[in-house]
Amino acid sequence: EVLIRVMVAGVNGGADTFSVTRAAAEATGIKLGAEGVGVVVAAGAEADYAAGDRVAFIGGGYSEYTRVKARLCNAVDEGGDAAEQTAARVSGLTAAVALGHTAPVTSGDVVVVTACATGSFAVQLAKAAGASVVGTVGSAAKVDAAKQLGVDRVLNYRHESLADVLAAEYPGGVDVAYEGVGGALLGAVCANLKPEGRVLIVGSISQYPHNDETPHHGVEGVGDIMDDVFRPGRTVELPNGGRLIGNVWGDAFSTGVLPAFRDRLYADLAAGEIRALVDGTRFCGVSEAPAAVAHMLAGRNTGKTVL
Ligand SMILES: NC(=O)c1ccc[n+]([C@@H]2O[C@H](COP(=O)([O-])OP(=O)(O)OC[C@H]3O[C@@H](n4cnc5c(N)ncnc54)[C@H](OP(=O)(O)O)[C@@H]3O)[C@@H](O)[C@H]2O)c1
Repeated sequence: EVLIRVMVAGVNGGADTFSVTRAAAEATGIKLGAEGVGVVVAAGAEADYAAGDRVAFIGGGYSEYTRVKARLCNAVDEGGDAAEQTAARVSGLTAAVALGHTAPVTSGDVVVVTACATGSFAVQLAKAAGASVVGTVGSAAKVDAAKQLGVDRVLNYRHESLADVLAAEYPGGVDVAYEGVGGALLGAVCANLKPEGRVLIVGSISQYPHNDETPHHGVEGVGDIMDDVFRPGRTVELPNGGRLIGNVWGDAFSTGVLPAFRDRLYADLAAGEIRALVDGTRFCGVSEAPAAVAHMLAGRNTGKTVL
């Protein structure tokens, strides 16, 4: 294990964070704050780290110090931007594995990306692979940021229907969707998916507990996307032959390919080959964690929210 002084914590849109109540956290010992970057203060004898090393880590970000398994850490460049390195740890790596390994994107593909922080990496990775990218945003303020990342067709789903845009402008259909919102956006990509298309179910933030209503996706034959597809990590075949992939990490853990994706991502980040889009609103200290989470859940972030 490694004891880390936290420099930056990432605010993660992930289901686990928002389904954890205080009671559940106490019962399970789950540490809030999915990810971060910090400096090693002490390391166990078998941990390959020494005091003073800068690492990115998983778990316990909303604390001044966190103790995590050494295997959940990776050394990062001490001269790099710690907020950007935090964004890469889960938001970036999820996209890198999903689009590079689980449902590889190839040149000429039409790729749809929803949601902001992890989506900002997905957009760049899909563009680098030669895809044409359709990206959804929930506010006018995010349109320019999406364009700057390279999104070919940005649409604000509050003013335009993704289903209509795909049907009219991409009649050949969607090859890959990197979908983390759910509801109507999920329904739209499924309705416009090629027979060999794949929908990566990254999450479904529109139905997490902070929402008063759970929008339904309306996809024939598919039940609750979190309970039936995402949590069991199931792959579901759609009537047209396309697939919903509940486990976007695929076999990356069991086959051991994960470290290579992680190292490549951090190398690309350090070299400026990929950008980490970090939200500009400043939150500082553990006491501001609730405000940072609320900011993200209200959709006010443009890119990764950090603390
Ligand atoms: N499977 C994994 O390992 C993994 C890893 C990272 C993230 N995720 C998933 O990816 C999705 C995005 O997470 P993130 O960390 O990248 O978050 P994020 O994009 O930083 O923040 C959430 C964004 O989702 C959009 N959104 C749409 N409907 C929303 C709603 N009802 N409530 C709140 N936000 C809504 C908002 O952007 P707009 O205003 O533009 O709509 C908001 O800014 C989540 O579903 C999360 O569970 C999964």
